[in-house]
Amino acid sequence: MKEIKKISSRDTFLVRHPILREGKPIESCQFDGDDLETTTHFGLFIDKNIIGVLSVFKNNNVIFNSENQFQIRGMAILEDFQRKGFGDELIKHAEVYIKSQFGKLIWFNARESAVPFYEKLGYIKIGEPFSIADIGIHYNMKKEIG
Ligand SMILES: CC(C)(COP(=O)(O)OP(=O)(O)OC[C@H]1O[C@@H](n2cnc3c(N)ncnc32)[C@H](O)[C@@H]1OP(=O)(O)O)[C@@H](O)C(=O)NCCC(=O)NCCS
Repeated sequence: MKEIKKISSRDTFLVRHPILREGKPIESCQFDGDDLETTTHFGLFIDKNIIGVLSVFKNNNVIFNSENQFQIRGMAILEDFQRKGFGDELIKHAEVYIKSQFGKLIWFNARESAVPFYEKLGYIKIGEPFSIADIGIHYNMKKEIG
């Protein structure tokens, strides 16, 4: 059985740690703003086991001339479950949620390797690539939904 539901920030670590912060201390899985009231975490469960996570932050990026922006962070699917359509489902679930919150624009900093995944979902790259320490090359990406 498959379901997507809201989870605590702590539960995201179950997937953030092996996939996004492998070999790093567990505290590195905590993001600024994780426990704000305006932040929502989603988990994708298969037979009660969490296999994917994504977090939605209410966060306006000054480079965009749009109100009610939301940032997606911590998108990750456990390795054995990648390339099976679960990431796609989580993003689409987040988009429905963000629309329900009257979001007008979704943006994030995407790892270079994940850019084609996001492009398939209609996100576009903005500006030049940049480096995030210890993680690598990223692109700012966005999609207008309002
Ligand atoms: C990137 C990630 C979130 C994608 O989730 P996923 O469940 O593996 O992707 P899906 O199976 O839903 O893929 C949806 C589509 O994108 C494509 N796709 C997924 N990852 C891709 C990649 N790295 N490069 C090219 N295409 C990709 C799939 O082939 C699929 O295409 P299709 O609809 O034509 O079949 C996941 O692989 C992951 O957690 N990777 C490691 C962590 C990471 O990079 N997170 C993102 C940080 S910004």
